[in-house]
Amino acid sequence: MYLTPDEEKLMNGERGPTYQKAIEILAALGDIYGADRLIPIKSTQIAGVSYKTIGDAGLEWISDLKGKVVVPSILNPAGMDLECWREMGISEEFSHKQQEIIRAYEALGVKTECSCTPYNIFDNLAGFGDHVAWSESSAISYANSVIGARTNREGGPSALSAALVGKTPNFGFHLDENRVPVISITVEPELHDSDYGALGYIVGAMIGDKVPVFELNSRPTKDDLKSLGAAMAASGAVALYHVKDVTPEADKYEMPHEEITIEEKQIQEIYKSQGSLEPDLIAFGCPHSSVPELENLARLLAGKKVKKETWICTSRAIKNGKPALIKRIEKSGAKVFCDTCMVVSPASEKFKCMMVNSGKAHKYAPNLCGVKSILASTEKCVETAVSG
Ligand code: F3S
Repeated sequence: MYLTPDEEKLMNGERGPTYQKAIEILAALGDIYGADRLIPIKSTQIAGVSYKTIGDAGLEWISDLKGKVVVPSILNPAGMDLECWREMGISEEFSHKQQEIIRAYEALGVKTECSCTPYNIFDNLAGFGDHVAWSESSAISYANSVIGARTNREGGPSALSAALVGKTPNFGFHLDENRVPVISITVEPELHDSDYGALGYIVGAMIGDKVPVFELNSRPTKDDLKSLGAAMAASGAVALYHVKDVTPEADKYEMPHEEITIEEKQIQEIYKSQGSLEPDLIAFGCPHSSVPELENLARLLAGKKVKKETWICTSRAIKNGKPALIKRIEKSGAKVFCDTCMVVSPASEKFKCMMVNSGKAHKYAPNLCGVKSILASTEKCVETAVSG
């Protein structure tokens, strides 16, 4: 891969070992994937934040770096609510390590908002056609598919390297030819609410990392697309999808020859496949809840008290920006947590079974938290939370 004279200087260590390591990582990726050069990026979203997932080795790696990011950079969810961690049942020791990780990123100039929905917090991170380097799989999917920005599936280290250098190798989804859909998915039933997560759960497992184009029988909201993409990235490795007449690039392309049809009974099967499990945690906000999703929960919870532990995960910016809305939700006894989620926090591991309205959380809860999972509609989740 070609490096400019300035990039060569970084490679030769002229700005110190942190920038040298960063450009080495980017150049190695570029060489492996056949990139011609590095291209400027508008922002990064950096995974590898929860102490649960990166442990002491990750903390040490980040703490040793000396430099400053040169593009707006935001963190993925951490292992706890950075303020209300005691309420989550997080230990002092974990909290201490988690705060150290956050401080290490802060020292590098990374914004310490910890969210997988950065697009709901900052307007200027990614627009149509912008190149970015994001690393949380649902955020990647949303950036590529719903915003029409361009990102590969970055790991934490490659996103952080891109943040320090302000560039990423030009391959994969940065190039037009890799954004073309190769499989068309016709969805017969009209979808609502958690059905989009159920659809993503089914399709991701079927198509792996292919780029699909959907023909839907219903008009999805941005939150529906968020759920669909998150689930497809979890059960498969889909980083870009199109929805005919809905997403910004969909109508540029011919419908591909390879076709799949999804029927109503396949969606219903996902809800039914859970037998008679009894949830002891009801969890919303995977990906992090948006304002409309919080408003819906406030409406459903109005005048009711939860009888089961109920968590709603969102970003701190949204929680701080909507105090009256949060108060309405918390009046029911449901807990609104920020900076974290039910999957990346160890706090959910003490439960036996969580009920979720998210296809992604439904996929990950058993594997990453050791907790059984039930997928249900938002209404059904609230009904279960308040009925004890
Ligand atoms: Fe976000 Fe956690 Fe789900 S990072 S997408 S809420 S698993």
